[in-house]
Amino acid sequence: MIRITELAQEQISRVVRQGALVVDATAGNGRDTLFLARLVGPGGRVFAFDIQEGALQKTASLLEENRLAERVTLLHAGHETMSAHIEAPVSAVMFNLGYLPGGDRAIVTRPESTRLALAASLELLRPGGLITVVLYPGHPQGQEEREIIVDYCRSLDSKVCRVVQVALLNCSGVPPELLVLKKFKEFAQKELS
Ligand SMILES: C[S@@+](CC[C@H](N)C(=O)[O-])C[C@H]1O[C@@H](n2cnc3c(N)ncnc32)[C@H](O)[C@@H]1O
Repeated sequence: MIRITELAQEQISRVVRQGALVVDATAGNGRDTLFLARLVGPGGRVFAFDIQEGALQKTASLLEENRLAERVTLLHAGHETMSAHIEAPVSAVMFNLGYLPGGDRAIVTRPESTRLALAASLELLRPGGLITVVLYPGHPQGQEEREIIVDYCRSLDSKVCRVVQVALLNCSGVPPELLVLKKFKEFAQKELS
């Protein structure tokens, strides 16, 4: 079976090299953080954000089980604040939106903070770097978030970055979608807001 989250990881693994700086914008249960920690190797660093202390604890446990905690900086902060925490250009940013699986479904990513975080990610991204966004339009706030984020991506200058949308066509229900953003060159914040 093809999973959207695995497609996101496959895309990321094509551009991230050992020693890279990368971001997990939604740490959750830590699966993407663990994937990124393996990918960047001993000389790399992962910055992982979540607004829920419980999510960061789960991520920390998973990293410790795999002896990779020293490669990761866990941040109890919204991803929309990422430019206050990270200065150097990053090679990749992963977003897996929605609620924490197994957690409180009322705590979800929000369209406006996600849009701000996406703009900040594009600014931090090195030329040639990649952003993946997994969208979940199947939950009540997820549809609105999908529309706002897809509209935002449509508005981006195609000379600055290219955006690809991946949808599952023959699934029951409302399946998740993947956006992949590839940055071509440096550009100013005013072009992103
Ligand atoms: C679908 S889960 C992420 C799953 C995770 N990538 C994994 O591999 O297990 C979404 C997470 O986003 C977090 N979240 C919600 N709003 C956020 C924000 N503004 N900044 C950072 N994380 C946020 C939630 O707390 C939740 O843990």
